[in-house]
Amino acid sequence: MDINTLFGLEGKVALVTGGATGIGRMAAEALVRAGATVLLASRKGEACEAVAKELNAMGASGKAVGFAGDVGTEEGVDALVSTVQQYTDRLDILMNNAGITWGAPLGDFPFKAWEKVMNVNVAGLFDLTQKLLPMLRAAGTVDDPARVVNVGSVMGEREMGDGAYSYSASKAAVIHLSKILAKELAGDAITVNSLAPGPFVSRMTAFATHDEGMRSKVGDDVPLKRVGRDEDIAGCMLFLCGRGGAYVTGAVIPVSGGINVMSGPNIFEQALH
Ligand SMILES: NC(=O)c1ccc[n+]([C@@H]2O[C@H](COP(=O)([O-])OP(=O)(O)OC[C@H]3O[C@@H](n4cnc5c(N)ncnc54)[C@H](OP(=O)(O)O)[C@@H]3O)[C@@H](O)[C@H]2O)c1
Repeated sequence: MDINTLFGLEGKVALVTGGATGIGRMAAEALVRAGATVLLASRKGEACEAVAKELNAMGASGKAVGFAGDVGTEEGVDALVSTVQQYTDRLDILMNNAGITWGAPLGDFPFKAWEKVMNVNVAGLFDLTQKLLPMLRAAGTVDDPARVVNVGSVMGEREMGDGAYSYSASKAAVIHLSKILAKELAGDAITVNSLAPGPFVSRMTAFATHDEGMRSKVGDDVPLKRVGRDEDIAGCMLFLCGRGGAYVTGAVIPVSGGINVMSGPNIFEQALH
């Protein structure tokens, strides 16, 4: 066994949706550092190009290419698949990371906040995956399967609305769908796993994490006492996408600092003290 190659991604080709910001950017950097060629796509093509430039300036063994891609509509997914096909005929890694949220109090939650969120977080993720299957099948082998990593959330694992009702439900759907696809695609040498992140600093969470004081308050509510960091996402991605994760499918990686196992107080504690 060569443990030095367990997490290497030399020669692999990856697509990261929403790869220019937040968790997608963290993952893209890790994949490039591990030697992969990473395609970054989101609605803002220029932002993806700019991040690709930054990643290419790191002097890592991998490289990045950025372009526009919208997973919120069927036409957008079709156009993205065509663009990906211009760069590669096989795809070793697909990270379905693009996501949006909507927050409003119970009682005032708008109907339209369902369609938008479900379209990007669930329908777009599913449709992109199914349309890229030929390219994933072309890359996967029994010894080294192609990898799909879907970004769910701890809010899709635990009963947390936090005013983001359609978001939480969409992330539960992502986790469930990932397990269904894991079952259906194992025979095609494609693994499908999901991440269930807790709080990470990003554009989506900027309302509560934009300064150190807020980040520290958010971290205080996490059992492991901090918000997530780049390395936490990098570690998950290199495990799931490298040789080390080749025999793992249908998993939900709880990269949430322990929020996934917060279950309230111990039942008998009050009575005994
Ligand atoms: N940060 C957290 O605490 C946290 C926790 C759990 C899960 N997550 C999940 O992590 C993923 C990344 O979110 P983030 O926190 O890193 O926030 P973020 O910085 O806002 O990233 C979201 C990304 O999705 C892209 N995106 C949005 N709509 C899109 C569309 N229709 N087509 C293609 N790309 C689209 C955005 O780029 P454009 O605007 O250029 O399209 C952006 O790059 C999401 O799925 C989110 O739900 C985040």
